[in-house]
Amino acid sequence: MAAEIQRGLEDVVALESRICFIDGQKGRLIYRGYDIRELAERSTFEEVAYLLWYGRLPTASQLDELTSRLVPLRELPPALAREIDELPLSAHPMDILRTAVSALALVEPEETRPGPTSIGGAQRLTAALPTILGRFHRRRNGGKPPEARPGLSAAAYLLYALLDREPTELEARALDVALILHADHELNASTFSARVTASTLSDLYSSITSAVGTLKGPLHGGANERVMELLAEIGNPERAEEVVTGKLSRHERIMGFGHRVYKVEDPRATILREWSRRVGEAKNELRYYELLRQVEAVVHREKGLYPNVDLYSGSMYTLLGIPHDLFTPIFAASRVVGWTAHVLEEYEDLRLIRPTAKYVGPTDLPYVPIADRR
Ligand code: ACO
Repeated sequence: MAAEIQRGLEDVVALESRICFIDGQKGRLIYRGYDIRELAERSTFEEVAYLLWYGRLPTASQLDELTSRLVPLRELPPALAREIDELPLSAHPMDILRTAVSALALVEPEETRPGPTSIGGAQRLTAALPTILGRFHRRRNGGKPPEARPGLSAAAYLLYALLDREPTELEARALDVALILHADHELNASTFSARVTASTLSDLYSSITSAVGTLKGPLHGGANERVMELLAEIGNPERAEEVVTGKLSRHERIMGFGHRVYKVEDPRATILREWSRRVGEAKNELRYYELLRQVEAVVHREKGLYPNVDLYSGSMYTLLGIPHDLFTPIFAASRVVGWTAHVLEEYEDLRLIRPTAKYVGPTDLPYVPIADRR
């Protein structure tokens, strides 16, 4: 029987999961049974991390316990801190992150054993990623490494680690919402890659190293950085129409639009659009917001495409003072929760993930000795 190929594995159901549900037709995203809109409105990133890891919302004392467990884990082991300080300052922070996650497995191997005990590794990574990024970013700015700062929430700590100042309440809440929205998304490419690695019974940190490398690509996590390049190219609002239609006529992709699963607007884009407006208003800078609204109108009219999560995150991060090459690392600092939840789920019901390919090359070629090859 001829093999049927689903290019890009589109619509292939590869496994059962209890973590995340996407209704691409209705534009709904559910984490462990809860609608993302309600989680973004009412919960915090730490609560959502608990939900994704343990399958239920925490009580107040469970949340306190998780928060106090995470704070000391922000401190990097000295061997890892030294290694980060040796890495080239010209490197992209996603490469730093991938290298640091891999290096953490060398200095803390006991956290990486496959199995339910890997929850320790999941929490270690979630707490340490902001410190890794902050340490590298501050060094390239000539600053000092961040301290653990127990009083700061995960979102506020991430901003503090990067910016070397404590954020305002609005800034911290805006990032908190962004982290909630990015925490999981079913079998997206990077999560799949983490699960493929875990399915060989490899360790947690190896699985997350695979995921970071996969997230880096511009068709996945790297898109928000490219959205800012587009805004820079457009410059002023009168040029939005011309630049976007020009790109589309050259069959170029407009970053921040389209999605493999959503056929309507990505609910995360709806929420981030509103938050980017709020942050813009607070900073008296609505230029990006207004430009993006124009881009949205042109792309929808010309291609019928809707925005995805990446469209508004980059401009909001820019208003928070975050440089462009840290956008995808921030995505990773949130998605690490989803990746690790999926790896833990994979360990519970593991079957080696190994699809097949339809071979379209030749067979039965006569072997020519090297001296006779032309
Ligand atoms: N700009 C212009 N055209 C697009 C875009 C876009 N952003 N997205 C899809 N299309 C067009 C394609 O050119 C194609 O047209 P064609 O049939 O005339 O050739 C059609 O829509 C289908 O595109 P595919 O690539 O087959 O659809 P797929 O499901 O593989 O694409 C993807 C999903 C990769 C996200 C795509 O929409 C894209 O490249 N978007 C831009 C990058 C981006 O924003 N990525 C972030 C995604 S969200 C995330 O990972 C967090």
